[in-house]
Amino acid sequence: MKERAAASDIRVLILAGGMSYEHEISLKSGRRAADALQRQGMACDVRDLDGELLPALQEFPPDVVLPLVHGQPGEDGSLQAVLELIGLPIVGTGSTGARRAWNKITAKDLLRTAGIPTPDWTSMPRQAFSDFGARKLLDRIAAKMGLPLIVKPNSGGSGLGVHAVRKEDDFPSAMMGCFSYSDTALIETFVEGRDIAVGVVDIGEGPTALPPVEIAPLHGDYDYAARYNPGATRWTVPAALSEPVAARVAELALKTHRTLGLGDMSRVDLMVDDAGGIQVLEANVAPGTTETSLLPMAIDAAGLDFGEVLATMVRRAIARS
Ligand SMILES: Nc1ncnc2c1ncn2[C@@H]1O[C@H](COP(=O)(O)OP(=O)(O)O)[C@@H](O)[C@H]1O
Ligand SMILES: [Mg+2]
Repeated sequence: MKERAAASDIRVLILAGGMSYEHEISLKSGRRAADALQRQGMACDVRDLDGELLPALQEFPPDVVLPLVHGQPGEDGSLQAVLELIGLPIVGTGSTGARRAWNKITAKDLLRTAGIPTPDWTSMPRQAFSDFGARKLLDRIAAKMGLPLIVKPNSGGSGLGVHAVRKEDDFPSAMMGCFSYSDTALIETFVEGRDIAVGVVDIGEGPTALPPVEIAPLHGDYDYAARYNPGATRWTVPAALSEPVAARVAELALKTHRTLGLGDMSRVDLMVDDAGGIQVLEANVAPGTTETSLLPMAIDAAGLDFGEVLATMVRRAIARS
């Protein structure tokens, strides 16, 4: 029988920081995960991405890498592709799944094909606005899809560049705001409902949905400030959902995780309306693990220990390799 390595013999490298707008949040996620793994007895370093990373990984390879870089290149699959090239075990999703989830339009195409409900949408690259004339294009979209709409960067996170369009006059500025984060805008039908997030973890028995978390910003939208300022948002876990709706939410989160080919852990964002209708918005492969992040909250609510869950994923990633 293969001997199980003592925790102290396992060297984990957490990659956190990165070059996106979510740099600080990622660092916080990285430090929190490192503390939790160290309490499990594992040797753990946190390192940012830079030009020295590749030679350092080749010269002193850790046993396993936990990428917690939010945004690009941590969530778009490129960091995972580099780690795969070096042959290092990764905790989390590989490059293919990360690429699918990062591109919200690709993800929505896959979800719809799989029969998973997601709001109606159209996409528009920045270039199309100069090619066809912005005003004419926006008028057409508003006439075809109806208002309200939501405009968001095709690739992004933390609610950055996300704007609701309730009247046509709001449309141009929403598009401009979006294009400062991504060259392609995803324009979706606005869903009146509650924000629900479901963590999915795989600690040996296949992907499992954690208790759903309801997110209620106390003022305005669930934007960057609401996410990271203590006291700006009320989280309820488990979310107050009827039993059948909660079961369906869990089922759709798991189906989303599987359809996109995600691994170890993800967070699926959904909207639930008053009639219990559910729409999947997106999935995240590097969910935040800060003090106010939803995944650790959901792990706790499931009666699990965040450090033990991470340590199990670390061991499983090593065993997979
Ligand atoms: N179609 C929609 N209808 C209503 N609100 C939405 C819609 N899409 C996004 N939102 C709101 O914007 C937030 C961020 O959207 P999301 O697609 O999860 O992008 P990200 O979290 O990557 O910025 C959601 O949590 C929700 O509050
Ligand atoms: Mg989201």
